[in-house]
Amino acid sequence: MLSPTDPRILTLLSSLPDYREEEVFSVSSKLRDDGHSPEIISAALTQARLRQQARRKFADRAETMLFTADGLEQASRPDAARHHAAVFRSAGISSLREVGCGIGADTLAFAQAGLSVTARELEPDRVDIARHNLAEFPHVRVELADGLADITEPALWADPARRGAKGRLADPEEWGPPLSTILHAARQVRVSGIKAAPGIDLSILPPDATVEWLSSGGDLVEAIIWLGLGPSGRRAVLLGHGTLTVPGDPSEPSAMVDPRELGSYMYEPDPAVIRAGGIAQLCADHDLAPVAPGIAYLTGDTLIESTFLHRFAVEAVLPMQEKKLARELRRLDIGALEIKKRGVDVAPEVLRTKLKLSGSQSAVLILTPLLTGRRAVLARRV
Ligand SMILES: C[S@@+](CC[C@H](N)C(=O)[O-])C[C@H]1O[C@@H](n2cnc3c(N)ncnc32)[C@H](O)[C@@H]1O
Repeated sequence: MLSPTDPRILTLLSSLPDYREEEVFSVSSKLRDDGHSPEIISAALTQARLRQQARRKFADRAETMLFTADGLEQASRPDAARHHAAVFRSAGISSLREVGCGIGADTLAFAQAGLSVTARELEPDRVDIARHNLAEFPHVRVELADGLADITEPALWADPARRGAKGRLADPEEWGPPLSTILHAARQVRVSGIKAAPGIDLSILPPDATVEWLSSGGDLVEAIIWLGLGPSGRRAVLLGHGTLTVPGDPSEPSAMVDPRELGSYMYEPDPAVIRAGGIAQLCADHDLAPVAPGIAYLTGDTLIESTFLHRFAVEAVLPMQEKKLARELRRLDIGALEIKKRGVDVAPEVLRTKLKLSGSQSAVLILTPLLTGRRAVLARRV
């Protein structure tokens, strides 16, 4: 099996035009006519295709990187990776062990932040690729070895493989390496960070950990279990926009807040805030309450400003009945409708088709239980 770092592949790759799926056949037959072997052509075109896909994640840097399809998919986003590096830096760490560096996306951010890294990886092709991707950093060593063996560094970063042959691995003990094994190693160093699935079961979190949920543009990206950062707690990290800290044992269930009748405004917390259990804190800080028990839509009578909340001005409360809704939306001339829902079993796209929207105005329809029952709240984004 050829390594993607084979000089013949790299030379051919650097001479290829921009990758276009529809031109693959003609480009490869021309390259065969020029005397290149089918294996080298195929490997170079694969890298050209992966580089093009990788532009979404790595922008211009993708043009000099190598990938495997799985390695690209599993690679940390650069903004999340920069956050990982910043946490180590602010904890006073200057060198760390990385367990399972894949194609080296986290390693790159650590290196760019000036950290010395011993990055270990079990898959030989990923080791070759990571070495290529990190070649410009003399303070990074990429080794083909078990990342959990012989740890001498003061800090540890692990991003375990969370996909198996049949898809996502829900049980952290099936991750590669298993979570309990990483946690054991993590206890031997000063600071450690372990990337985890955002839906991780709170009850298995170490009580002394600081657990972060990262979001970007309203999308939940990942969770990280940090050990050695000081007082335990949960944090919602909106990348580039702010952090909400909820002190206490992260394995405890989140505090519940009594619901309240719908007021003039509805608020939707960022998903990282919801996972980090920050709702009670936002409610206390801004005099808000959920619109129904256990529903993560909040309400209040004044317009408040918070990075952690999307804001909606309530315009009408409608029954959740298709015909009545369709009639009301027609009367209000609403043609562009954003449909949101929580706690109700409705498929927004099916409802949208049934509403046969045709007007010139836009609105948001929020389907949710209220204290008065299931309703459709017509609102406007603020
Ligand atoms: C999710 S990927 C890491 C992605 C990486 N953080 C990035 O951003 O590119 C997990 C990697 O861990 C590797 N791995 C699993 N167990 C390992 C171990 N005990 N030692 C070293 N690497 C391991 C897998 O081969 C896989 O490439």
